Amino acid sequence: MSDLLERFEGFIEPSGREWQLLSQLDPAKLPRHIAVIMDGNGRWAESRCLPRVAGHREGSKAVRAVVETSARLGVPVLTLYAFSAENWKRPASEVGTLMSLLEDYLRRELHTLQENGISFQAIGRIHELSPSVQKELRDVETATSHNRGMKLVVALNYSGRLEIVDAVNRIIASDRKEPITERDLSENVYTAGLPDPDLMIRTSGEMRISNFLLWQIAYSEIYVTDVLWPDFRPVHLLEAVLNFQRRERRYGGLRPASVANTR
Ligand code: FPP
Repeated sequence: MSDLLERFEGFIEPSGREWQLLSQLDPAKLPRHIAVIMDGNGRWAESRCLPRVAGHREGSKAVRAVVETSARLGVPVLTLYAFSAENWKRPASEVGTLMSLLEDYLRRELHTLQENGISFQAIGRIHELSPSVQKELRDVETATSHNRGMKLVVALNYSGRLEIVDAVNRIIASDRKEPITERDLSENVYTAGLPDPDLMIRTSGEMRISNFLLWQIAYSEIYVTDVLWPDFRPVHLLEAVLNFQRRERRYGGLRPASVANTR
């Protein structure tokens, strides 16, 4: 049995679809960073005649298995888009539910993070969140900071455009005299020090980026699934990773076969 399959023993059914997908994955070609736009909570609830917050509640349950599957796979970084800077436009009750679901998740899942060696980081304009959410985030960041496994990044009060604005302002404040370079930007966005996402997954079928990681996704592979976030399970993550591994990435260059044709 391969190392990869061994890591999933007892976690998934040995004869199921997940096992089949896992045995097709190449452990040497895993994405170094997966970013997920968790969309479709509202539609999931509305299709069941439930209030929208029921969709968020179910969505927060779906987070757990996806985090653990990514960690077991050996993906170095997983970033989840949990609350955008634009989400403040939603009714106060929905915003309140999202914030308390996040706090519940952090309290409830700290031990899963520790058991799986996962370190936690929040990105976005965190200083604009309530003091209690900020404290919870800081506590989990500190408690998991020594972990050397996967990094779980949660984007909160996040906007890709504001992130670029914040990065430029930080560079200006550092009294830099030379022209700003790409490297300066990469070193000053919230994800400084992390690899850019190789794979970006969006659930619920929408073909949009929604202001997520605009700087970092220049060469990301985008995978959109019709599955609504509350229904997203490890099998769907494995399907996305296998699809990613079958793509050819050229970064603006040529395919090896085409290079031969230019001689
Ligand atoms: C988009 O669905 C989803 C969100 C705005 C919030 C995502 C939050 C969670 C999954 C729960 C908490 C997060 C963590 C990390 C525990 P939508 O409401 O826009 O869906 P719709 O497009 O169908 O209306």
